[in-house]
Amino acid sequence: MNIRERTFLMVKPDGVQRALIGSIISRMEQKGLKLVAMKLMQITPDLAVRHYGEHKGKPFYEGLIEFITSSPVVAMIWEGDDVIEMVRTLIGATDPREAVPGSIRGDLAVFTGKNIVHGSDSLASAKREIGLFFGEEELCSYRLPHEESLYE
Ligand code: RTP
Ligand code: MG
Repeated sequence: MNIRERTFLMVKPDGVQRALIGSIISRMEQKGLKLVAMKLMQITPDLAVRHYGEHKGKPFYEGLIEFITSSPVVAMIWEGDDVIEMVRTLIGATDPREAVPGSIRGDLAVFTGKNIVHGSDSLASAKREIGLFFGEEELCSYRLPHEESLYE
């Protein structure tokens, strides 16, 4: 059974610096997903620690926090059936050298520490990350004319 979900997607500082925001949004739109919230923002050290807290103690952690706070990111919420797993597939493997062609990291990145985008990895992560980055009033509820053509 398909379950309507929401996921948190972020264009990281490298994606913004490389002018890939539009291209990443296009991929999600072309897939048939619905954008329900979006903002360009600077991540504070406090938010970075809360977002990536699960990696505390790992060798790449300090560099990750420094990188994610280094320049603006684009935070988004996308909606669709099974969207959490679908967006992870569209993003590709963490290491761009292993990410398949056609995925964002497979097509656009070459290095794990500069892998352009973040996507929630589970329902629990999606709920937690959406709550960290957005207030309820920032989410939009609306219909798209082509929705009937996407789902049975
Ligand atoms: P993300 O959370 O950013 O969507 O990436 P992910 O789920 O694919 O990978 P995750 O294991 O959560 O790692 C978070 C981010 O930390 C950096 N990283 N570097 N040098 C390394 O071995 C290493 N491992 C992870 C990457 O930027 C990764 O996206
Ligand atoms: Mg992750």
